[in-house]
Amino acid sequence: MLKGKKIILGITGSIAAYKACYIIRGLIKQGAEVQVVITPAGKEFITPITLSALTSKPVISEFFAQRDGTWNSHVDLGLWADAMLIAPATASTIGKMANGIADNMLITTYLSAKAPVFIAPAMDLDMYAHPSTQKNLDILRSYGNRIIEPATGELASHLVGKGRMEEPENIIRVLDEFFSASAELQGRKIMITAGPTYEKIDPVRFIGNYSSGKMGFALAEECARRGAEVTLIAGPVQLKTQHSRIHRIDVESAQEMYEAAQTCFPTSDVGILCAAVADFRPETVAGKKIKREKEEELTLHLQATQDIAASLGKIKEDNQLLVGFALETNDEQQNAEGKLERKNLDFIVLNSLNDAGAGFRHDTNKISIIDRKGREDYPLKPKQEVAQDIINHLIAVLTH
Ligand code: C5P
Repeated sequence: MLKGKKIILGITGSIAAYKACYIIRGLIKQGAEVQVVITPAGKEFITPITLSALTSKPVISEFFAQRDGTWNSHVDLGLWADAMLIAPATASTIGKMANGIADNMLITTYLSAKAPVFIAPAMDLDMYAHPSTQKNLDILRSYGNRIIEPATGELASHLVGKGRMEEPENIIRVLDEFFSASAELQGRKIMITAGPTYEKIDPVRFIGNYSSGKMGFALAEECARRGAEVTLIAGPVQLKTQHSRIHRIDVESAQEMYEAAQTCFPTSDVGILCAAVADFRPETVAGKKIKREKEEELTLHLQATQDIAASLGKIKEDNQLLVGFALETNDEQQNAEGKLERKNLDFIVLNSLNDAGAGFRHDTNKISIIDRKGREDYPLKPKQEVAQDIINHLIAVLTH
């Protein structure tokens, strides 16, 4: 979402100024253009040479360029930007911003900026807690500026408390989330099932499968990044969700996943069924651990679980889309097409266990998307990129 975005990065005189390098690197890696404006005190902490090398642009600090006296237009800069980020923002700069004390290039640029402004404070805990700082932050909030709250931890003074500038990756995420809120899937509700299910045999054993949930989680992040409100119904996995627009419901068994999906799908625009749901569960669950000493052999009676995809296919309305996955070992095309019809899906993502690097547990996947019009094959890619391909296809279907 940061691709092509023009960002002014204001740097002020704080130890955390070195972290601005990581912010620049992260923003540029995601395709943004960064123009640094630094205060005189900021230059005591980090050199303009480092910053201009990272941004491939001269760093702006003075009202007039020292070499030829040309005027640095804060007005033009303020209009150029899609966002202005001040990180780190000291108590002094926050105070000047709140009160319009335009005695350096950063503050004049701030006062001219038409774009949304993000402020990441960094200072000692007592300075941060001081009523003066808090009042200034409230004033900035009332102007519509967004404060990226500092974290609690060890400070440059070796004291421990709230005042550490938020980590660069989290600051970048805040900007990314801001831009994705106006993206293609904005206003859409998307339900995703992910991961395996565990079917209890006794209190310590279960029937499960090798699904890691990585594909489903990558899809959830991608949908949220593009503006959707996501409900992620996750089986037992070790993964974390990042985006604040992902609402996660953790379940264990196929029955729990079925119930969560039945509740959620009627109010969703799209259902993406990425979970590797167990097809069978033990008919009865032993109340106590089954002991080997007592049994010569053990027969488990299994009964079929609910097919979540098929059940949602039955209640799907005309304005809803349902996307399924098929992991096949043989007769791939035929099996996938059969599922597309049987489960009333709009399209199905086929991955084969025969392809190296595709399917369960890998960080990569190789897919084909099959719908009633035909089949599209994609090369082996990281699961994040596969998620982008799938969501691009979904957006194309939604917009036609
Ligand atoms: O029939 P099969 O399990 O191969 O179908 C795979 C598709 O159906 C996947 O989208 C999977 O999430 C979904 N499914 C389901 N509930 C089941 C079994 C599969 O939603 N009980």
